[in-house]
Amino acid sequence: MTFDAQILLPDEKGLEAATRALKAGDLVAVPTETVYGLAGDATQDLALAKIFDAKRRPSFDPLIIHVADFEQCLSLVNQSLLSLPAQELLRKIASTFWPGPLTLVLPKASHVSDLATSGLSTVAVRIPASPITLNLIKKLGSPIAAPSANRFGKISPTSAMDVKKELGQAIHWIVDGGDCKIGVESTILEITFNGELRLLRPGGTSSEDIKRITGLPIQEITLKGETFSPQAPGMLESHYAPSKPMKLISELNEIQRSQLPEKIGILSFEGISAEIQSWVEAIIHRPCIVKVLSPSGNSLEAAKNLFKSLRQLDESDAKLLFAIAPKNTEGLNLAISDRLRRASQPKSSI
Ligand code: TXA
Ligand code: MG
Repeated sequence: MTFDAQILLPDEKGLEAATRALKAGDLVAVPTETVYGLAGDATQDLALAKIFDAKRRPSFDPLIIHVADFEQCLSLVNQSLLSLPAQELLRKIASTFWPGPLTLVLPKASHVSDLATSGLSTVAVRIPASPITLNLIKKLGSPIAAPSANRFGKISPTSAMDVKKELGQAIHWIVDGGDCKIGVESTILEITFNGELRLLRPGGTSSEDIKRITGLPIQEITLKGETFSPQAPGMLESHYAPSKPMKLISELNEIQRSQLPEKIGILSFEGISAEIQSWVEAIIHRPCIVKVLSPSGNSLEAAKNLFKSLRQLDESDAKLLFAIAPKNTEGLNLAISDRLRRASQPKSSI
């Protein structure tokens, strides 16, 4: 069955329509500060099943549950499986970073649907910073499960129109909250029984900030893509991927000039230096469409433009895309590098 998604304004009328749809077990794409989410009522298994179906997402990849406040978060968590120091740590992290781009992986309460957690004993929870979506969760009176509103493995949407392009034929409703302020997904952090911290996905909250607030080290699980564990999220090597082949610029040397197509697209973290420009031109020697995420190399600006620019290159007539990653992995640069690396993996590894 194909649909033609309707865009709802985030006013009283639009939010009433969105709440009605969610109550009826239907899906609604909603804005968050990171990327748009495809929301369903987390207490209705049918709605959860519809999310996997609309995204064509494999059932082993669990969903993030979005709540309106800390109390609602605790209702999803089995606190007895957290030591007292871990419970204190949870409160400290939540009160510092929520609402905001941080998802916490915690022991799940028994009533949380196995569909949402893909049968894991943990649940991923966050309080998003979008007042529109917070309002919607409050009106619904239950948490919402919301993965990014794209087909599985594809580019996350950061505007209502991007959602329409991705899922317009698979869902009925999209709430338009404008462009997402952050532009990359939330950081996913697991708090273990003993109060250890494990970074499962870099994202909108920097590891440096988490370390500073908690005074604790963070174990990094997925960064080099070397670990594959069902407990590590976003762990599939090829992800956030354009439909065109994409490579990191470091791979350019390995490619024969004769193998290059007529038109190349380049996605660069910052303004391309004259040195790189001449190197690229000498090797490529072809017209290039260049998208710069931030001319001055500002991480916030680059993150906000990342998926939009990737999508624009994917829609251009370039046949092969190259990405130039940030030179360091400080702050948001870690998440930007992670997304560029995964977007550049061979598609066969999805
Ligand atoms: O910013 C975000 O996090 C956005 C917005 C919509 O909130 N959501 C998002 O969802 O990025 P999604 O489904 O695209 O990515 C969620 C990741 C998945 O890679 C999944 O494996 C992981 O979270 N995840 C969910 N539950 C988990 C759990 N219990 N343990 C480990 N990873 C989990
Ligand atoms: Mg996603």
